[in-house]
Amino acid sequence: MLSDLDARRQDRDHVTGVGAASLTLAAATVRRPVDSLLDLGTGCGVQALHAGRHAAAVTATDVAPRALAMARATFTLNDLDVELLEGPWLEPVTGRRFGQIVSNPPFVPGPARVDYVYRDSGQDGDVALAALLRALPGHLEPGGVAQLLGSWLHVRGEDWPDRVRSWLPPGVDAWVLQREVSDPALHVGTWQRDAGLDLASPEARAQAGAWLDWMERERVEAVGFGFVVLRRTDGEPAVVFEDLLGDVADPLGPETAGWLDRVDWLRAHATDDALLAAPLTVAPSVVLETYSEPGAEGWTEAGAAVARLDGPRWRHEVDGPAAALLAGCQGALALGELVELLAVAHDRPAGEIVTAALPAVREFVRHGVLVPA
Ligand SMILES: C[S@@+](CC[C@H](N)C(=O)[O-])C[C@H]1O[C@@H](n2cnc3c(N)ncnc32)[C@H](O)[C@@H]1O
Repeated sequence: MLSDLDARRQDRDHVTGVGAASLTLAAATVRRPVDSLLDLGTGCGVQALHAGRHAAAVTATDVAPRALAMARATFTLNDLDVELLEGPWLEPVTGRRFGQIVSNPPFVPGPARVDYVYRDSGQDGDVALAALLRALPGHLEPGGVAQLLGSWLHVRGEDWPDRVRSWLPPGVDAWVLQREVSDPALHVGTWQRDAGLDLASPEARAQAGAWLDWMERERVEAVGFGFVVLRRTDGEPAVVFEDLLGDVADPLGPETAGWLDRVDWLRAHATDDALLAAPLTVAPSVVLETYSEPGAEGWTEAGAAVARLDGPRWRHEVDGPAAALLAGCQGALALGELVELLAVAHDRPAGEIVTAALPAVREFVRHGVLVPA
């Protein structure tokens, strides 16, 4: 792979090599065979190169001629046939659709200027991400999936999921996974350091001051960073926002593929009757954790949670009846039959248990704690 040396990092048209963000996106990409894949903002070509393994045809775009030259060399060296197009955002692929789109765009929110082409969109804050999310689904085949890295502002008085939700067009499943939240000073410092600036230099201080002033004016309290997964759907869309802060050892690609399948399954079992007719089983990686508090009599059990020991390590607090219901999920009995048994055992109306349990069951399925048998 060909890219600039890190020593050239302070050049405006620096072409980054394979960095942490590149690897994060590559590891989170769904690797199922597709006919066509678009890599938007290809840089040195790293995402397109990975895509060559599972996509029959790969198109890569970039706004920077220097990046395109590097990418062309990368593909030639790797004997990979990639269609390379020059232009901003989705302009080079106007009117075209793809089975899959991946993008590690210039996502760093700041004032509307471009200090580094790899980092700055040139538009205010997260405006470029908003436009991209609105436009991307129009370039997906039915059922096609877009995966990108993104950064959104946490604005005073506004919930970040509401902000991102307002950018989503109709007819898309969306999974927005927030991986980091930085306060303004950390955000600015991180990206100045990333650009190789000496934070104590007068130039860096002036830039940081202007950047922080801009954040203050825009009422920015923090900046979120994470993954966005979009899938074109004709069904009732599933739109999910969640935090997954901290390290995740397992690559998120298989998890994302699983999330898409589980969302499809839930859509096909959207009614209570359909869900109650399904036999489910607890995923093999799931354990029940109980925890206790110290007291005069020694340890007293204070609660329990089911937790996946793989992937995102999702964890859900459960009460006694929920734990009992999960224990019964061994693939033999339909969920409805288990609810009936539980109703008898706890002397409660089955309808009451259904009302309490089904929303949680849907969450368990979405998080891969329960899987269809
Ligand atoms: C963060 S780098 C990602 C490079 C590479 N895809 C990776 O994953 O490491 C962002 C890339 O987007 C390109 N870019 C910047 N502004 C763009 C725009 N408006 N339209 C298309 N590409 C753009 C930059 O030249 C750069 O190559």
